Amino acid sequence: MNLNLISPDVVSGKKTLVRVDFNVPIEDGKVKDDTRIRESLPTILNLLEQKCRIAIISHLGRPKGKPDPAFSLAPVARELELSLRKLYPALENVRFVGDCIGESVESAVKEQRENEVLLLENTRFYAGEEENDEDFAKKLASPFDIFISDAFGSLHRAHASTVGVTKFLPSYAGLLVEKEVQALSRLTDKIERPYTVLIGGKKIADKLPVLENLIGRADVVLVGGATANTFSKAMGNSMGKSVFDAEMLSTAKELIDEYRRSTTTLVLPADFTVTDDFKQVRLLANRKPSEIRASEIAGDIGDVTRTLYAQYIRTSSTIFWNGPLGAFETSPFEKGSQEVANALASNPKAFSVAGGGETLEMLNKLGLSSIFTHVSTGGGASLEFIAGKTLPGLVPLLAS
Ligand code: 3PG
Repeated sequence: MNLNLISPDVVSGKKTLVRVDFNVPIEDGKVKDDTRIRESLPTILNLLEQKCRIAIISHLGRPKGKPDPAFSLAPVARELELSLRKLYPALENVRFVGDCIGESVESAVKEQRENEVLLLENTRFYAGEEENDEDFAKKLASPFDIFISDAFGSLHRAHASTVGVTKFLPSYAGLLVEKEVQALSRLTDKIERPYTVLIGGKKIADKLPVLENLIGRADVVLVGGATANTFSKAMGNSMGKSVFDAEMLSTAKELIDEYRRSTTTLVLPADFTVTDDFKQVRLLANRKPSEIRASEIAGDIGDVTRTLYAQYIRTSSTIFWNGPLGAFETSPFEKGSQEVANALASNPKAFSVAGGGETLEMLNKLGLSSIFTHVSTGGGASLEFIAGKTLPGLVPLLAS
């Protein structure tokens, strides 16, 4: 995939609008995980060094098209300033502008000093963002000379700030988008086999279409987390009080049949670690899916499954991991993810990629991020990319 990339002749000295994905977890006004902010720094730094005047835009959360202080990007400005100053001591400040279009943005751009970075307010405070409204996109673009798209995590969304704006400004891919595309392309072209995919986590409705697209692409798909509960339920097991998606049961059943007819092996847990109370974990037992009692909740993949999944991981050449295999927030239900991660660490020759917000949180909590060749900032975006779909936000960045 050939992208239009940043180069000195096209960016130098320009008034530059940069779309990043600062959709980061914020609690009590503080950024809880700054991975996406850190990953955006190389592009910002590169543009500052090329004397660009930069204004950064992003969405945060899902504020439904109107301003909502709970989804303000203001706390991110402080965090960005601290991280950026460490790399670029000449930085004046990161100035937060309480809007992303209109007069306040226009005057901030006019007054902008050298080495001052502007961070504009959440684009999703306008309905035009998610509607990819042309008029809104034009307003976003109007104070600027060029557009840099570095929001890899948002490129599966055809929104005004990822797609619409490219109609009005010469548009280029930032360094993070370039890095993500390069790494994830190894999961779509010239894959080194065996290729194993681990899918876990809670957002089952998002994962089932991806699981369908992995048929014929991956050699083995290992399933854990609440996604596995849904499959296990669809196979006719009671699963007690475990979390599963009742609306997805028939789709899950159809998928199991599709996998059976294909060359890709779908592996579901042979056992689960169960408890009867997540708040006070007293009972802990290992159960086959058919033996889970009515009062019990599956919290993790079981002992037999851990050993089996670890074995697949040790013998794979390419690995993609999206979603925790158990309720890692509550000990000891991190054990399954931990043991499989240990197997991955013992196979350093494999090309390994982790993706997804929940996955990043788990890896950071367990101190495991560094064992992967590439940790993607994309959740839905990386899933869609590896499933072979065209990300709408990438299309306008392709070199002709
Ligand atoms: C993500 O976190 O996956 C991206 O920022 C996209 O967010 P969205 O699912 O709310 O569009």
